[in-house]
Amino acid sequence: LESLDIKIEEDKSLPQAHKAKINKAYESVGQRVKVNGWIHRIRNNKKLVFIVLRDGYGYLQAVLTGNLALAKQTQELTLESSVSLYGTVNKLPEGKSAPGGVELSVDYYEVVGWAPGGEDSFTNKVNENADPSLLLDQRHLALRGETLSSVMKVRALWMKYLRKFFENEGLTEVTPPCMVQTQVEGGSTLFKLNYYGEEAFLTQSSQLYLETCLASLGDVYCVQESFRAEKSHTRRHLSEYTHIESELAFIDFDDLLSHLEKLFVETVGYIMEDPVGGALVKQLNPDFKAPTYPFKRLDYKDALEWLNEHGVPNEDGQKFKFGDDIAEAAERKMVDTMGVPIFLTRFPAEIKSFYMPRCKDDPRVTESVDVLMPNVGEITGGSMRTWNETDLLEGYQREKIDHAPYYWYLDQRKYGSVPHGGYGLGTERILAWLCNRYTVRDCSLYPRFTGRCKP
Ligand code: 4AD
Repeated sequence: LESLDIKIEEDKSLPQAHKAKINKAYESVGQRVKVNGWIHRIRNNKKLVFIVLRDGYGYLQAVLTGNLALAKQTQELTLESSVSLYGTVNKLPEGKSAPGGVELSVDYYEVVGWAPGGEDSFTNKVNENADPSLLLDQRHLALRGETLSSVMKVRALWMKYLRKFFENEGLTEVTPPCMVQTQVEGGSTLFKLNYYGEEAFLTQSSQLYLETCLASLGDVYCVQESFRAEKSHTRRHLSEYTHIESELAFIDFDDLLSHLEKLFVETVGYIMEDPVGGALVKQLNPDFKAPTYPFKRLDYKDALEWLNEHGVPNEDGQKFKFGDDIAEAAERKMVDTMGVPIFLTRFPAEIKSFYMPRCKDDPRVTESVDVLMPNVGEITGGSMRTWNETDLLEGYQREKIDHAPYYWYLDQRKYGSVPHGGYGLGTERILAWLCNRYTVRDCSLYPRFTGRCKP
């Protein structure tokens, strides 16, 4: 069969096509529509050309027949060219399957923007078997892929439903600054910057600022980027990540844990009930088990015992002893074996930050919690906050931090102090857990980590 050198023209006697996004086209069976998008896949056996069109709202199977299929221009169509397809939406016959259960019978189309074929073709640029660092160089194109775009959709739904949860719980959203002059989680991971000649940092956590809002706004949360100059290359560390933090006044440690439990059960519940969200999570993570009440609670000291009983060594290859950090591998071994969400609680003061209060029944340990999820490990860190000025000053001293720049934080303890606590959610780690991704790099639009700050 020869391709035909014909002009592709619209038959003006056909009913006027109405413009539809793909998810709306699914509901337009029997109607003539105009659908704009990008050629996601194309299969050509000359007499019939099948296109899968993508527009960010869904995928649409389209078929071109007759002269339209044979036309030279159709035979030359390339992946990722943008097109407007005109045609009638037909329900697929029994036994056939396509997204939305429909197929578009195309009667006319326009090319909006050509994509190159050959050497520069999309598939040459974004080759799934390519070295991950090459794929990261092409992130702007790789984002068009099914997996990455699905993860980004789940991410958007996570944010949407988390905000719904916060609204139900009566929290107010605030936007703390990114440029700061205080640390929260240790000096070694601060990104320094020259701020008009003064030393400043990119924020590691908005926690201290959130604490200052309690007395004016009540319970608060923020969605803010945090920055960590992590030297280690791991599957769950980024240099910039979306940190969702909240702070609650007049609570005790048990209230904090109950709130966190509810946050995960309800927010994930909303996503799974959402027709798009539920389908995406099931597709990306078929074995996903939504968390249920109550979460397993495990004290740090009992975790050490479990690790020692199961022959998991500490970072020096020795048995764990009180005061050791539970590093990533050991933590994941434990949570993967247990297979359920865990509240790991009551860490020793020496391995936690200056602001964490000690437990009344055991002053060696603090009212602190890490939320661990199978396959990722720690996805959230939280604690009560020291609300007595003297104890807080002792914390600064222990961590050898000059408290002078923190006068505004200390003032919260001076002007009507109250018991309070909060937590920080690692958005990308939560997505890695929900979407079953090996690394958090898959869960950030343009991930930043050691050696990568582009595109
Ligand atoms: O445990 P972190 O360091 O806790 C804080 O920053 C507290 N000030 C939060 C608070 O109480 N308001 O960080 C909280 C969470 C971690 O559990 C992890 O999920 C995520 O932030 N996180 C990172 N995610 C990606 N890359 C990194 N480098 C991260 N560091 C922490």
